[in-house]
Amino acid sequence: MPDNEAFWDFYWETRLQPMENLGKRAAILAASGLIRQLSPQLGRPLRLLELGCGEGQVMGALLDAHAQLCTRQNSVGVDYNPRSLVQCQRDYPGVRWLAGDFTDPALLTGLGKFELVLLVNALHEVFSDTFSAEMGEVDVPLAKQRVEKALGGAAGCLAPGGWLLLFDGLEPPGDPGRELRIRFLDSAARQDFETFARQYQPFRISYRPAGSPLCVELSQRDFTRYITKSIFLGKHLWESEQRESYQYFTEAEFRAAFTRQGLQISGLHTLTVNEEKWRNRVEIQTAGAEFPQEHILILAHSAAG
Ligand SMILES: C[S@@+](CC[C@H](N)C(=O)[O-])C[C@H]1O[C@@H](n2cnc3c(N)ncnc32)[C@H](O)[C@@H]1O
Repeated sequence: MPDNEAFWDFYWETRLQPMENLGKRAAILAASGLIRQLSPQLGRPLRLLELGCGEGQVMGALLDAHAQLCTRQNSVGVDYNPRSLVQCQRDYPGVRWLAGDFTDPALLTGLGKFELVLLVNALHEVFSDTFSAEMGEVDVPLAKQRVEKALGGAAGCLAPGGWLLLFDGLEPPGDPGRELRIRFLDSAARQDFETFARQYQPFRISYRPAGSPLCVELSQRDFTRYITKSIFLGKHLWESEQRESYQYFTEAEFRAAFTRQGLQISGLHTLTVNEEKWRNRVEIQTAGAEFPQEHILILAHSAAG
């Protein structure tokens, strides 16, 4: 296949058109660019590993697109949901799709080494899985430890010269307790917020009515939790989304965790893809406050080599 930017822009535009998750699209584009750069540099087809591969949309799309630059039979996708793996096997045959828990060091040790390790929307689930029934919310210090351990496990799967790509949710910077006043644009949006506040499980959501029936005051942290989940309210995905916190690390925490795990960051972008949809639901009335950057995309390689 021709290796030029215009071709790949067109290819991905066409191939990813039906994909609703625009964030995931950004992860695929970044991984594709990295593969096109890395494989010629290393002079061999790349082995890919995706931890938390879901239905294989990310790694499957990359292997289909870059059949010459990646080795399908030596690439591995891991997920603990067997139903997702059935879908992977059906849609992307010839790849090793493995059922298991990627936070289990024994599982990772047996996998081998890889030139590209993908963690796409996976670590926030490790964070959310550390829900404490006793506390009635996520045990944050323990959850952060588990996330960092999983990151370290992923880094341990890198072959010399290998890269890790992480795409996930982002806790915004600044004072998380800062109070914001927001106004819903209509009563349906206000009602959806009530549903969110009642059903969101990782943390208790606090808010106060503020003058008009459409206005409330809440912390910046709870606003971020709400707004990044708002696109799922009323959809079938809400059933699983209500159990997961998309936020766990700030940018500074990501940087520190990567450094501690021996990973050198070469590229870091924060992005938002749903702001237009958010603006159709709610406005922020607090002066100087903005909608949050909801995603982070990090490209890193082993600091050792
Ligand atoms: C939001 S989905 C993302 C799937 C895929 N990366 C994508 O972007 O299309 C997260 C996936 O990670 C899997 N997962 C979460 N924690 C896991 C763990 N500890 N071990 C294995 N799979 C895990 C879930 O089952 C789910 O399929």
